[in-house]
Amino acid sequence: MNVILAPSQKALTPHLEIRGGRRLEGEIRVSGAKNSALVLMAACLLSSDDLKLRNMPALSDIQGMGEILESLGVTMNRGEGFVELNASGINQSSPPYELVNGLRASFFCIGPLLARTGVARVPLPGGCQIGARPVVEHVKGLKALGAQVTIEHGVVSAVVPGRGHRLTGGKIHLDCPSVGATETLMMAAALADGETTIDNAAQEPEVVDLAGLIIAMGGKVRGAGTPTITIVGMERLHGADYMVIPDRIEAGTLLLAGAITRSKLRITPLIPEHLGAVLSKLEEAGCTLESDGIGMTISADRVRAVDLRTQPFPGFPTDLQAPFMSLLATAEGTSVITEAIFENRLQHVAELQRMGAAIRTQGNTAFIEGVPFLSGAPVTGSDLRASAAMVLAGLAAEGTTLVQGLQHLDRGYDRLEEKLRSVGASIARHDVG
Ligand code: UD1
Repeated sequence: MNVILAPSQKALTPHLEIRGGRRLEGEIRVSGAKNSALVLMAACLLSSDDLKLRNMPALSDIQGMGEILESLGVTMNRGEGFVELNASGINQSSPPYELVNGLRASFFCIGPLLARTGVARVPLPGGCQIGARPVVEHVKGLKALGAQVTIEHGVVSAVVPGRGHRLTGGKIHLDCPSVGATETLMMAAALADGETTIDNAAQEPEVVDLAGLIIAMGGKVRGAGTPTITIVGMERLHGADYMVIPDRIEAGTLLLAGAITRSKLRITPLIPEHLGAVLSKLEEAGCTLESDGIGMTISADRVRAVDLRTQPFPGFPTDLQAPFMSLLATAEGTSVITEAIFENRLQHVAELQRMGAAIRTQGNTAFIEGVPFLSGAPVTGSDLRASAAMVLAGLAAEGTTLVQGLQHLDRGYDRLEEKLRSVGASIARHDVG
């Protein structure tokens, strides 16, 4: 017998059902930073001692990184909010493609693996929904430290020639301040012979967090958080017990949840310096922000249009561009957003339009004319941050929004719906259509 499905039930994958229009109230706790946690996990390869990382978020990307490290011979013990890693028994130089595929952060392994063992073969992570995401700068930097690098059949193979198989410190100038390249090269340089300087380095807080871990492991790093980072290579690094910084992108998303629902919410812990550009745009849009030293309270009533352009840190983060667009879709007036980091990161526009947003694009610029209300609809998040943007829009929309694409959301937001429910949102997860 053929079962005829109602249109709303057709081909629904796991989704969130959000009944919008509720005011939120209360406090939400921010988890550890995904982008820090991923690179800090890879840094376990730098030592044969135990590395304990605390404040770890529960995310599928973290799970994926753990599997990649285990495939290299790392032992791992995961508990509530922490992970213990030991890389004394590394027996592989090449993580398998099946694990690497889909997790760009897997490429982080190449730096520490090469530095510690003199050889690494890591499949190219490939592009993703938001852009091509090359690794040219990573490769150029590894070569400057003495590695021979070839790319064949989709695999980057790096070896350190010579008897000691040890990288040599050197001077690296990055053509663009790539976060991943800066982190890869910091890890490689941490065990190199001599001093390395990285010019035009990324200044993101996650880079500073990695420097903190390398120092906690006995390494020497200066200048992290500025455009010039100096690393003095050590013969060996020891273990450490280290706390991951709070996730600034999750914190920003949650502040936006307060703003888009015109509510009052406290988000904690939140380090204001990590979100400077976002906080000023929220204030420019008419939100009130109060920092209490640990957390930040946002109150929103009327929200005005603002213009913004994504930039490397300390500029406005590309990872909050889509979520901020959801807010501006409900603001008074016309906003202009320019995405200047990734070439294909406006895919959420079409989904927001389905919810009644008035947005027009020209190249990588979106012109957003605020509307009095969004209306609930079935929508799909095309990547991690686009999915978060859909959830935010759903919280504010009239009626019910069904957000699909949860495999993206679960990569980077630790129990988002649970956290939003705890402050009054009506949001439920359905695993099957
Ligand atoms: C990291 C973050 C990601 C964030 C991004 C930008 C992690 C795990 N991910 O990604 O969430 O959106 O920073 O803040 O930390 N580029 C080149 N050549 C290169 C490398 C990069 O041209 O060799 C370009 C990219 O195409 C892009 C820009 O530099 O336009 C930024 O990329 P990058 O900083 O490398 O981002 P990721 O480290 O991949």
